[in-house]
Amino acid sequence: MKRFLIAGATAAAVALGAFSPALAQQTAEDYQKMRSDAYKAAGGDMKALAAAMKSRKIDAKDFSARANSVADNLAKATSGYAPGMAAADTSAAMKTIWQEQEKFQGYATAAVNAAKALAAATTLPARGAALSALGDTCKACHDVYRSSK
Ligand code: HEC
Repeated sequence: MKRFLIAGATAAAVALGAFSPALAQQTAEDYQKMRSDAYKAAGGDMKALAAAMKSRKIDAKDFSARANSVADNLAKATSGYAPGMAAADTSAAMKTIWQEQEKFQGYATAAVNAAKALAAATTLPARGAALSALGDTCKACHDVYRSSK
């Protein structure tokens, strides 16, 4: 048992250790790619969720899993604006994201919470309202922090 615990702790330490230096070497381009992939995945899930609503044939498990996936991908994407990377960033991200991290994270949290609320909704009208509310949180952030270029 003791050996098992130590092995577990070592594995965790190795996982953390492997992660941090890798992160330190990430370039602005790496962050952009990571965000782009995650935002696109959220967009794909949103399309599938909207299509499921439209068809009215909802597989509850699949629907919730997709909503949770939106939450995960948004949390991931919105944590990808590393300090010091603003100048080299060539994405559609407004530079204000780096200057107003707290405000930006407020928009991110609202969206992640809206996606979790969607995952927890159980009736068709509740799902419809939650999906629409989630879509509003995407737009709210894009209006302020995504440039139209
Ligand atoms: C907290 C702010 C914020 C929220 C919330 C947000 N986005 Fe975005 N999104 C951005 C920014 C900023 C960009 C510009 C690209 C970047 O920053 O990397 C972007 C870009 C995108 C892109 C383009 C990605 C690409 O590389 O082509 C898609 C698709 C997207 N968002 C979908 C969504 C969807 C769907 C939601 C809601 C479920 C959402 N976003 C919520 C900030 C946000």
